[in-house]
Amino acid sequence: MYSAVLSAHSLLRWAVLVSGFAAAIRAWRVASSLRIPRATIATAAGQAAGPSAARWPSSVVFIVLVDVQVLVGLVLYLFISPITTTAIHHMGAAMSNDLARFWTIEHPFGMAVALTLAHIGRVRSRQAIVDARRARRAAVYFTLAILVIILSIPWPGLPYGRPLL
Ligand code: HEM
Repeated sequence: MYSAVLSAHSLLRWAVLVSGFAAAIRAWRVASSLRIPRATIATAAGQAAGPSAARWPSSVVFIVLVDVQVLVGLVLYLFISPITTTAIHHMGAAMSNDLARFWTIEHPFGMAVALTLAHIGRVRSRQAIVDARRARRAAVYFTLAILVIILSIPWPGLPYGRPLL
């Protein structure tokens, strides 16, 4: 059970990363091809014409995959991982151990920040009136979310590193 869920969580990281890059690149491309009108009120040229950046398939896939990955991470964290299920009952000791601290605090906290950024990006993009601003907001927040995910992954070579697959 442990190794099956851990393998799924490990593999899903690649889907999260690929979909995140796709969503961010699409948003940057659209943002750079459109201009934000000077007036705050949307002009005919700048008005929202198509679906919000938050509704593009690439954005939706990214958000859904991050949600699923965080859910799998929570299941691991609370019920399955021998590292975290032990550490959450001995927080004091876990804080003084680099490895336990990474899995108990740093990894989940970083991923929770990334999840929040991705969702803020989706909501703020939907709130914007003009297409260019929608795309720019999605681009900025999705890029930040991807950066935080990359920084929070246990890459091989790090003290708490894990295999790529
Ligand atoms: C986008 C979000 C996330 C990504 C990309 C991600 C990625 C990873 C990766 C690559 C591993 C190593 C898998 C392996 O050993 O092969 C891992 C392990 C783990 N993750 Fe995540 N994770 C995410 C979110 C979370 C969250 C939100 C939590 C907790 C609430 C969490 C808890 C864990 C736990 C407990 C382990 C395994 C520790 C052990 O070896 O027992 N993850 N994660």
